[in-house]
Amino acid sequence: MAMQSSGQVIVNDVGPRDGLQNQPKILAPAARVRLVQALLAAGMSHVEIGAFVSPKAVPAMAGADEVLAGLAGAPQGTVFTVLIPNVRGYELATAAGARSVCMVLYGSEGMAQANVRMSREQAEFATAGILQHARADGVRVTSTIAVAFECPFDGPVAPSLVCDIAGRFLELGTDELCIADTIGAANPQQVRSLTELLVREYGQDRVSCHFHDTRAMGLANVFAALESGIRKFDASIGGLGGCPFAPGASGNVATEDVVMMLEQMGYDTGIDLDGLMRASQLAQDLTGTAPGGRSSAWLKR
Ligand code: COA
Ligand code: ZN
Repeated sequence: MAMQSSGQVIVNDVGPRDGLQNQPKILAPAARVRLVQALLAAGMSHVEIGAFVSPKAVPAMAGADEVLAGLAGAPQGTVFTVLIPNVRGYELATAAGARSVCMVLYGSEGMAQANVRMSREQAEFATAGILQHARADGVRVTSTIAVAFECPFDGPVAPSLVCDIAGRFLELGTDELCIADTIGAANPQQVRSLTELLVREYGQDRVSCHFHDTRAMGLANVFAALESGIRKFDASIGGLGGCPFAPGASGNVATEDVVMMLEQMGYDTGIDLDGLMRASQLAQDLTGTAPGGRSSAWLKR
């Protein structure tokens, strides 16, 4: 449990991808670059900046190459991840200069079909192939297990299935294995038991979590995973988010709320809350719909 004593927690902002993909208003690449720059100005070192997906499937993510290019001057050590749905996405992303990609695995057949028109197995096969290429190319890969608790089409997902998928992809050498509650259906007890199992089986260093706040359990779920030893979380500035292919999904747990909780508990995120407030305000100004985390009202008292 070496990481636990160091007290460091990494927060990866997925707002520019998970957040903006689902907004009624489509932002031009230059506006997305501004949002990412505001996150960097707050000290964030990990940001998911877009997706190399079909622009017909997700119009809001078109121009991810321009977003990457617009961020060329970012501080050294910044990890910009892009989501990819298939091998074509990997090719486009790496051609655009991406050095970190996130590929999606599935806890259910229904979600795999709805999201990428593949079977669960086809998505696994594609990811395994991408991992091989990525190793040769020196590209970092996060393998995210979507609907790791419950699928909007197929219902509850067995923890044993998630544990099995996680084990196989950690074995294949994924740099990170992310457990995603895509629709915000998990409760803290489920999160605690699944993350405890994963940490016991595979250690905590490469396992991360991604929660949506659909039912106001986002922060409680972060806390439950933290107690199991998880030290990396996705979150979204202003609580932006939701998946266009997963009915019922709402925004991610807000970055500012996760950071405020962690910092007040004594963890070190390296992120400045005042800077996050400015980024959150920008997210609201740009989209007109970011709900905003709870911490802004508290900080403005
Ligand atoms: N990036 C950009 N374009 C892509 C692509 C990618 N990664 N993968 C495929 N395409 C293009 C194809 O070239 C083809 O273009 P054309 O119509 O101009 O010939 C078109 O998309 C359809 O390709 P096809 O292989 O038939 O895919 P599909 O229609 O079955 O759609 C996906 C599959 C994966 C491309 C599409 O569903 C997708 O991009 N999904 C992403 C979903 C997502 O982002 N969800 C939220 C995040 S988890
Ligand atoms: Zn999500």
